[in-house]
Amino acid sequence: MDRYAVIGNPIAHSKSPRIHAEFARQTGQDLDYGRILCAPDRFAETVHAFFAEGGRGLNVTVPFKEAAWRLAEERSPRAEAAGAVNTLIGLADGRLRGDNTDGAGLVRDLAGNHGFAFAGRRVLLLGAGGAARGVLRPLLETGLAGLTIANRTAEKARELARMVAGPAAGLGAATGCGLDGLVGLRFDLIVNATSAGLGGEVPPIPDDCLAPGGWTYDMLYGDRPTPFCLWGQGHGAAKALDGLGMLVEQAAESFRLWRGLSPRTAPVIALLRAGQA
Ligand code: ATR
Repeated sequence: MDRYAVIGNPIAHSKSPRIHAEFARQTGQDLDYGRILCAPDRFAETVHAFFAEGGRGLNVTVPFKEAAWRLAEERSPRAEAAGAVNTLIGLADGRLRGDNTDGAGLVRDLAGNHGFAFAGRRVLLLGAGGAARGVLRPLLETGLAGLTIANRTAEKARELARMVAGPAAGLGAATGCGLDGLVGLRFDLIVNATSAGLGGEVPPIPDDCLAPGGWTYDMLYGDRPTPFCLWGQGHGAAKALDGLGMLVEQAAESFRLWRGLSPRTAPVIALLRAGQA
């Protein structure tokens, strides 16, 4: 049986084994998907042992996504742009290919599951850490009118905006600023990629920066509405979404890379939403 797993630390809470078991059942694929708790200083040897013993692919989560990027001998352009890898694929010649499906997961959830039309829209991305960087390129490929990256530490946002190639590369334009640089600006979509919600907080952004009819999206998710979802609901968002759909969509994209099949995500999202996982 083909073996896959998610590797991270901590890992007990991961929903990935449940999601991939559902995908496998649904598509009739005979595979085993486990979880690997890895010591911080043993990532490379643990990964190499997994593939040496016949493993076919790994999902990589906190805190190893950058280490996986370094370990991969071949990388997709979106993984290259993200500086992080969440999917490792064992190639036939024994080398490891690294990809990053987080950004595709975000865009698929917004555009595919919820019908957000990116073309011509002004999008605000909050945060400039790994989570923001991971979704940057797929967001810029959507045809949006402009992307503003705003971060508590302004220089990190400016650096991220400089790093991505702009219109010349067929991508949307990006600008970076501090949270105080948002005064007077309006956005059709605000994506929260900060970790502020983990501490029960919301980045301090102007009350009026969501345009009428605009949407909010929190990359975090939880059993209850996240602080940023509550912010959206309290500021007139037409939709205030959390990151559960993105979680399932990034998993589906990994499954596609490994198995060449597209699982149906809606029933799996519904299953997790109902707390049955
Ligand atoms: P991740 O990989 O989840 O992105 P990270 O690299 O540590 O984690 O980045 C965390 C992001 O959340 C950063 O953009 C951080 O802002 P700074 O760069 O200024 O540190 C942002 N962040 C964390 N807590 C925040 C808070 N309470 N308010 C606003 N932004 C916050």
